Amino acid sequence: MSNRRLAAAEIQPPSFAFTADNENWAAREIEKYPPGRQASAVIPLLWRAQEQAGGWLPQKAIEAVAEKLGMPYIRVLEVATFYTMFALEPVGRYFVQLCGTVPCHSCGAVELKEVLSRRIGEQGHVTADGTFSWLEVECLGACCNAPMAQINKDYYEDLTPEILEKILDDLAAGREVKPGPQQGRRSSEPARAANTLQDPALFDGSVVGAWRNRFEEQAIKEAPTGEASTATAAAPSQPKPAKPDAGRTIESEAADTPAKKAKEGEVPVKPDDPEGSADPRKATVAPNDERPEGRSAPQSGKSYTPTPAKPEEGRPVADAKGTTPVSGTSPAEGGARRDGRDTKPVGPKTSDEAER
Ligand code: FES
Repeated sequence: MSNRRLAAAEIQPPSFAFTADNENWAAREIEKYPPGRQASAVIPLLWRAQEQAGGWLPQKAIEAVAEKLGMPYIRVLEVATFYTMFALEPVGRYFVQLCGTVPCHSCGAVELKEVLSRRIGEQGHVTADGTFSWLEVECLGACCNAPMAQINKDYYEDLTPEILEKILDDLAAGREVKPGPQQGRRSSEPARAANTLQDPALFDGSVVGAWRNRFEEQAIKEAPTGEASTATAAAPSQPKPAKPDAGRTIESEAADTPAKKAKEGEVPVKPDDPEGSADPRKATVAPNDERPEGRSAPQSGKSYTPTPAKPEEGRPVADAKGTTPVSGTSPAEGGARRDGRDTKPVGPKTSDEAER
């Protein structure tokens, strides 16, 4: 992890001001943003200040940018210390930023670090001739060509210790070096042979939808035999409608429902008849429901007995005569089933009841 502190006070310059050219450039840069949004120019201005200061950002340059953009100094300092593209200490003529994040690390960045330490010294240290300095940074976005390093503004990829040493030698000697992948490949094409996406059928459209056949064949193979298998096989061609009323007929209309009454111009529910729509003879009842005359069907609002919150408030099951079959008796022996409509809610017994 990089050290993101400002350089020591003794090497900080006493002042910083943009050159006239850079002042004009900065004004044009700020104009790109709407009024009140000039802070959006903070990164370009810091970058230009770094270039003017010789490749690193002195504290005074950060303050000058904050003043120009009307930003609190701490906010500009936060930006400058967050991005490793801003060097906070003096750097060499060739500033090597070595990526040490996992892909590069697992492809050999550790060995590259050893080369840099041996050739240049500690991170942040500038060689005596001012040629090199280096820093380990986080991912620079060229992971597919790992391991890599950025030297000034260029990327050098597919590095090995030997290749990196040669690059350093060439730079020190003033020889030209070629940025980019260093082992022959162009851009980020496969490192060795191209061995994927080789089937011509992938490009003539003949395999479009092939995945679906695979699933259908598998479904037929796994389907049960006989009637069930016929039903399974027929299922895809007879999909159920998405909504209940999207094609499925309603088999029988519930007799005399409030909705039907309203449709026919009658009063759906008589105000003086609280039973109203709850009349079992008028409600939706299964046709073969044979109840004794006058015995009502259970209605949702009447057959519900709330679960007691405390056990002692619950009904004593053994005393609720006739409502619960005795354990071990069959439903047939338990007498006519009672629906709770004509049974008083049973609560804890009073002391009088207990004595009776
Ligand atoms: S991990 Fe090194 S460039 Fe992304």
